[in-house]
Amino acid sequence: MKKDKFALILGANSDIARALAYLMAQKGWNLYLASRRLDPLNRLAQDLHLRYGCIAQALYFDALDYKSHGSFYKGLQPKPEGVVVAFGYLGPLKKPPKDFAEAEKIVQINFLGAVSILEIVAKDLEKRKKGFIIGLSSVAGDRGRASNYIYGSSKAAFSTYLQGLRQRLFKSGIQVLTVKPGFVVTKMTRDLDLPKHLVTQPEKVAQDIYRALKAGKDVLYTPFYWRFIMGAIKALPEGLFKRLKL
Ligand SMILES: NC(=O)c1ccc[n+]([C@@H]2O[C@H](COP(=O)([O-])OP(=O)(O)OC[C@H]3O[C@@H](n4cnc5c(N)ncnc54)[C@H](OP(=O)(O)O)[C@@H]3O)[C@@H](O)[C@H]2O)c1
Repeated sequence: MKKDKFALILGANSDIARALAYLMAQKGWNLYLASRRLDPLNRLAQDLHLRYGCIAQALYFDALDYKSHGSFYKGLQPKPEGVVVAFGYLGPLKKPPKDFAEAEKIVQINFLGAVSILEIVAKDLEKRKKGFIIGLSSVAGDRGRASNYIYGSSKAAFSTYLQGLRQRLFKSGIQVLTVKPGFVVTKMTRDLDLPKHLVTQPEKVAQDIYRALKAGKDVLYTPFYWRFIMGAIKALPEGLFKRLKL
């Protein structure tokens, strides 16, 4: 195992992030596992170390505490080769938030929190001329729907941000991978009544992400069929779409 091969996972308590952490540790990565709840993170770090002999370090990180992001990243030694943004917040289930504070929290976590830390990371990777950034966006960002358009628009903004960042960092040899999962069985969706045939496990999403990283991809729909589902949904004329209950 290369001692200096580190990746940073932000929001590492996410179920998709945990599955990716197991896969990356298995593939020889050392990991910085950052999120708000330190107890499960410490347990995860210990388990990864015991199973795969990697260095796994649990770190406190709050996406909403923008001011702390500079010192958080500065404190990482050695610097990570790649960064995964996995934190996310869905808000109320099946309906848009009633009060602005909740809408603000969705946008702040999913978009501003990601921009705040990634602008710092990007500067560093640009200087070092290598590395990768993986952002977990969502198919929900591909078209606004009545049931979750605040979440969807925060993910649309994040996808557009990653698109621009990809173009900026391309000349420095840095890969920026936008991940658009469909329905995944995690704590985010456990209380939603999802169509069974369209639901995927976090381990499958993690495998797709790792494969896309290795293949140098830009955008990943996972599972793959979401590219076609969203292609069809995006192709619906607005006059028809606004009348539908999707
Ligand atoms: N599940 C799906 O169906 C689905 C579909 C499309 C896209 N996604 C996206 O994929 C990503 C992972 O989703 P998931 O379902 O695996 O998530 P999850 O299991 O619900 O976990 C989300 C994690 O985000 C972290 N988080 C929330 N606010 C944070 C903050 N202010 N600072 C730091 N961490 C914060 C939480 O960390 P703590 O526990 O430490 O507080 C939580 O563990 C998210 O961005 C989500 O939007 C998920």
